[in-house]
Amino acid sequence: MKVLVIGSGGREHCLVWKISKSPLAEKIYAVPGNGGISEIAECIDIKTTKNDFNELLKFAEDKKIDLTVVGPEGPLVDGIADCFQKKNLRVFGPVRHAAAIEGSKVFARELLDKYGIPIPEGVVFTRENYGEAIDYIGRRKKFPVVIKADGLAAGKGVTIAIDKGQATEAIKECFVSNKFGNSGDRIIIEEYLTGYEVSILSFCDGKKIIPMDPAQDYKRIFDNDEGKNTGGMGSYSPVPVLKEEVYKRILNEIIFPTGTALANENITYRGILYAGVLICNDKPYLLEYNCRFGDPETQVILPRLAEDLLPILMECADGNLSREKLDWDKNRCVCVVAASEGYPESSSSGDIITGLDNFTGSDDVIVFHAGTKMRNGNIVTNGGRVLGVVSRAGTFKEVREKIYSAMSRIKFRGMQYRKDIALKAERSEQ
Ligand code: GLY
Repeated sequence: MKVLVIGSGGREHCLVWKISKSPLAEKIYAVPGNGGISEIAECIDIKTTKNDFNELLKFAEDKKIDLTVVGPEGPLVDGIADCFQKKNLRVFGPVRHAAAIEGSKVFARELLDKYGIPIPEGVVFTRENYGEAIDYIGRRKKFPVVIKADGLAAGKGVTIAIDKGQATEAIKECFVSNKFGNSGDRIIIEEYLTGYEVSILSFCDGKKIIPMDPAQDYKRIFDNDEGKNTGGMGSYSPVPVLKEEVYKRILNEIIFPTGTALANENITYRGILYAGVLICNDKPYLLEYNCRFGDPETQVILPRLAEDLLPILMECADGNLSREKLDWDKNRCVCVVAASEGYPESSSSGDIITGLDNFTGSDDVIVFHAGTKMRNGNIVTNGGRVLGVVSRAGTFKEVREKIYSAMSRIKFRGMQYRKDIALKAERSEQ
């Protein structure tokens, strides 16, 4: 089979790595790919915005691609799966009106609310009733409060405002200074819940939903969850703090009812349904849905999937998932992200990365590339999140030792990474 993977991050490197292990995979292409992906797939320089869909379709037709796997949300929300399906090209990822579950937080909220799925209390305001949003904050007694821009905002559209001043500022950013363009035409003002978060990703074929083992990601740049929000500085799976009965509540109160809600609304959802769930006093609330694999959750989930990924992706795309559950490796898996100098405010490119040879061909320590590229035979930095270093072992203590030993052998100018990834999980096992 010929497979095309769309995207250029650590998530896509992990997808290509897992697909490359399938005996069914004859040839893998990545668009545009990155420095690490280029070692196991042929990288093709085509852009992935809406204007480039025709070029992508032509490529898939010319190369007789059997399956296209779409990594990032942007092309899905813009309808790339619809374009492939119209040409009878098999694609893994939801069509546009299904991807709206991530593309519009207001759409997702209204759907979940209609079907009684637990979400934080909240109110929707539009740009036209800006004044009402400001009055609402003026009257509100309870802070912090969460302000969410409706549309895609590269992970920057959610503000936790600790007081009226910050909330007013966040509303103005959407409605007055237009920070998020049309994505800020509507906002949700939502109650702030405390607890811990888990990511539950599921395979969906339009009828059946098969959840994967849970993962947890780390959003802040510094240890102890301090500093600015990032795309994700690390992750681990499984999640020992998540009790079995709470996991079952997530499935029975959120994930499966969402499947029913989508079916009742005649939305055929094929691809990944990624639930960001907050657990507050053992009660789960859905914070957000994403229409794709998580990054960096994928990097700790797929290495634990004790099955060939390719048939699962094919079956989802064809709407005929044949299995009822998935087999998981019992090992613990951790991913630590190495970011470039200045991240997340800015990023640094062109710095030579050394030490990667130590892990070439290793399945013990796997280095997934995110922001890298080849330059004159060297791998150099090319973005904010540069690498995701992943390992597996029987306990979180062992796996953390392996990862941090590996981190000390990889070097580039200004490299920064968190030292506390999966530390709580390690302590929970002692
Ligand atoms: N880990 C967060 C995300 O993929 O959106």
